[in-house]
Amino acid sequence: MTAINELKNEMISWRHYIHAHPETAFKEIHTTQFIIEKLQSFGITELYTDFSPTGVVGLIKGNRKGRFIALRADIDALDIVEENSFDYCSTIHGKMHACGHDGHTAILLGVAKYLNLFRDFSGTVAVIFQPAEENEGGARVMVENGLFERFPIEAIYGLHNQPNMALNHFYINHGAIMASFDVFEIKITGTGSHAAAPHLGKDSILIATHIVSTLQSIVSRNTDPLSALVVSVTQVHSGDTWNVLPQKAVIRGTVRAFSPQLQDMAESRIKEIAIGIATIFEAKAEVNYQRRYPVTINHSNQADIAIRAATHIVGTNKVVIDTKPSMGAEDFAFMLQKIPGVYVWLGAGNGANLHHPTYNFNDEILITGAKYFIEIVKQELS
Ligand code: NI
Repeated sequence: MTAINELKNEMISWRHYIHAHPETAFKEIHTTQFIIEKLQSFGITELYTDFSPTGVVGLIKGNRKGRFIALRADIDALDIVEENSFDYCSTIHGKMHACGHDGHTAILLGVAKYLNLFRDFSGTVAVIFQPAEENEGGARVMVENGLFERFPIEAIYGLHNQPNMALNHFYINHGAIMASFDVFEIKITGTGSHAAAPHLGKDSILIATHIVSTLQSIVSRNTDPLSALVVSVTQVHSGDTWNVLPQKAVIRGTVRAFSPQLQDMAESRIKEIAIGIATIFEAKAEVNYQRRYPVTINHSNQADIAIRAATHIVGTNKVVIDTKPSMGAEDFAFMLQKIPGVYVWLGAGNGANLHHPTYNFNDEILITGAKYFIEIVKQELS
């Protein structure tokens, strides 16, 4: 795999170019164009852009017939004002590649160039450059638009860089690796009144505070202490002035879990608590609970293939198996609900954490990531 090392400088230059031109969910127009131009320049001509408003899928055929697998990179940036000062900083104020999707894209471009050059495998590899991983679920959109119906993909592989995990180490789980991501909104309607005459109103602020504190009992009193659940209230809005008890209050927050049973339990408890507390205060509560991303659950066979591939690249002592999962979420989960696959973490060493304004993808893991994907293709399609 020496040839992939020769692509390092090119991969770094792509990564820096993408970093300087960040675009967020479903607006990755320039980024998609850049990726398409690169793929075409490698000689990859089977390109599909109709699975999502932005993003592209390329097909690379091996020199022998065989199975069909996919490699996936996310391509979107975040709404963050970058605080770095290197020469390839974001040129778009308020947008930033603070999750390293610039690096994931550069890795997959390098892999695509290598695979198309050598074609030393049996079957077909789809390289999926997926938009809108952050918040909008670009993976779900691609799945809903028939990605896996049009292409008989048998397994899919994705990776994510992880700052402050050991440099060039792989972290591979057989089951859950990222949590589900749900959001909720509670709208409280009381009765507004003069602050000096509280008995004439139904104080929505008092009701909201009771709801916020009682929501904490879902984790502490309804959840098995050995199971993981997060219920976080992230917004409380009510009131405009000093001397009015407001009629309305809104509470918003998020729920993270590793099982649909816990999601169901959290949803029903949030509704019972909000409506119950509003009722005892003679007011009303309306609860809107939305499931955004499911749990990211790796498939066991593909996890074993990933472990073999990673071990081949970095050695046994740099492959960490069945590590503690993260309460963060990932829309690759939608793809893993449809077909077998695995999502692994690649340690990026010390540095600012993901989504921090001084974060930067570590270029030292570009080659490791690319070698891993190439080895996956060898394992799956030789
Ligand atoms: Ni990310």
